[in-house]
Amino acid sequence: MKIVVIGGTGLIGSKLVDKLRSDGHEPLAASPDTGVNALTGEGLAEAFEGAQVVVDVANAPAWDDAAVLDFFQTASRNLLAAETAAGVGHHVALSVVGADRLPESGYLRAKVAQEELVKAGPVPYTIVRATQFFEFIGRIADSSTDGDTVRLSPALVQPEAADDVAGTLADVAVGAPLNDTVELAGPEAFPLHELARRALNASEDPRQVTADAHARYFGAELDDRSLIPGDDARIAPTRFEDWLSRSAS
Ligand SMILES: NC(=O)c1ccc[n+]([C@@H]2O[C@H](COP(=O)([O-])OP(=O)(O)OC[C@H]3O[C@@H](n4cnc5c(N)ncnc54)[C@H](OP(=O)(O)O)[C@@H]3O)[C@@H](O)[C@H]2O)c1
Repeated sequence: MKIVVIGGTGLIGSKLVDKLRSDGHEPLAASPDTGVNALTGEGLAEAFEGAQVVVDVANAPAWDDAAVLDFFQTASRNLLAAETAAGVGHHVALSVVGADRLPESGYLRAKVAQEELVKAGPVPYTIVRATQFFEFIGRIADSSTDGDTVRLSPALVQPEAADDVAGTLADVAVGAPLNDTVELAGPEAFPLHELARRALNASEDPRQVTADAHARYFGAELDDRSLIPGDDARIAPTRFEDWLSRSAS
């Protein structure tokens, strides 16, 4: 099956392309570097020729409110129009668990706008909402660093390995469109500041992590429900400590 992965050179995209190829499919890694640009539309018609499925795991290069909203809206409109023209039968989009609960965050507002376009669009779809990737914890810490201090909310998060996200996306991509949203989360929940502390300790990063209930997560205050999935979420297998020791070795 020909499956185009938009953002196929990124963290999730490159893992997804490898997984689809090892499962015997024909993935096409699409990104500006490979001549396919979801924002300008360049290369979409050629890339989608003969494709049954498009998986959108692109991410915006700039995360200020206006830029990120424009990225996800324009890219989604271009993708859905080109998919319709090419007769693509399934659009899979990767979003974020709890995106609709945190409208103070410009990034998450943009993800909700992306979801709305996909749901209202003409192409059968499946939206996969994932929790935070273990690989993203460093960026979360960096975004909350002031000098030697990382100030983070103690709200619960239920993170997961990027490999597990790619594995689920590969299954979803070759299945029938659900015209619905599924959630995917890791096997354990942690207070966000504690998770960052463990990750920084493991890499011998000297920054001190402080819990602050009012610390903002990409613009939004969190509570214990904000980023935790519902009861029907699929649970990814990899535990954080196993991932940490594997990453260290
Ligand atoms: N981080 C998390 O914890 C988390 C949690 C849940 C969901 N998500 C979602 O997961 C998705 C993937 O994240 P990621 O961390 O894998 O992203 P990433 O590593 O930053 O990769 C982004 C990909 O998007 C491509 N891209 C950028 N601009 C593009 C354009 N105009 N047209 C086509 N492709 C473009 C990039 O290509 P170039 O390299 O060529 O620029 C790259 O392949 C995002 O949609 C994000 O919202 C993330």
